[in-house]
Amino acid sequence: MADQRTIGLLGGTGPQGRGLALRLALAGHRVLLGSRDAERAAGIVADLLGGRDLPIEGVANPDAAQGAEVVFLVFPYAGQAEVLPGLAGPIGDKVVVDVINPLGWDDRGPYLLEVPEGSAAEQAAALLPRARVVAAFHHAAPKLLADPERQVETDVLVVSDDPAAKGLVLELADQIPGCRGVDAGPLRLARQLEGFTAVIVGINRRHKIHAGLRISRLGDDKRRRLNAELRPADDREEGP
Ligand SMILES: NC(=O)c1ccc[n+]([C@@H]2O[C@H](COP(=O)([O-])OP(=O)(O)OC[C@H]3O[C@@H](n4cnc5c(N)ncnc54)[C@H](OP(=O)(O)O)[C@@H]3O)[C@@H](O)[C@H]2O)c1
Repeated sequence: MADQRTIGLLGGTGPQGRGLALRLALAGHRVLLGSRDAERAAGIVADLLGGRDLPIEGVANPDAAQGAEVVFLVFPYAGQAEVLPGLAGPIGDKVVVDVINPLGWDDRGPYLLEVPEGSAAEQAAALLPRARVVAAFHHAAPKLLADPERQVETDVLVVSDDPAAKGLVLELADQIPGCRGVDAGPLRLARQLEGFTAVIVGINRRHKIHAGLRISRLGDDKRRRLNAELRPADDREEGP
């Protein structure tokens, strides 16, 4: 079993946060599911667990930021500028995984909003100057994440300027059945990942599915070897 981590989900009470909490806990990690209201988080965790014995706790966002080693941002784009400045202290230089898709909707469907910093993830990096920001999991369908009987069936494209942080998140992606973590380059490409979600959401609505995204012709052995090389040598899993 890979290293057990404590993972905080800020805004974890929505569909994306609940689904990720479940899958990360099933992968063996301890999860602090955060909310602006700790009582609401506790109620949502009780529903999510439904009697299952998994290490997920409902807490206030600052406690999730403080107690976790890896911090996921899973609130809406509008929340980022509200929440992050107050959490720069507890987040410090931790790995931050920005899952946010800054999308708007009009009568033609979803579209990418203009973000002054280029992307939601680059905005997070500007608001949390010490954090090791990674953007990932934009295309993982919450409906599939929430159902452990099903494969999530998507490649998780991961971008960051911090190789070790990227390596850690690639490993987390690989631990979710049906997901493959793919190194997709530097953080400046986050905008492309965030915007492509508008295409996927449109496909989902037209075809009534929960689509994912697959990179073709990407061999698994080489992909895993390259992903592992991003991790610090003393933090790599032993091979089989
Ligand atoms: N749903 C998807 O298909 C999907 C897929 C991939 C990525 N994403 C991205 O993942 C994020 C979460 O998606 P979601 O559908 O789970 O979102 P959501 O249900 O709209 O929001 C998640 C939680 O964020 C908190 N929140 C709402 N407004 C906030 C604000 N202004 N400031 C701080 N916290 C706020 C709320 O929790 P409390 O009231 O408990 O604090 C809410 O339960 C989004 O950024 C989305 O773009 C979504």
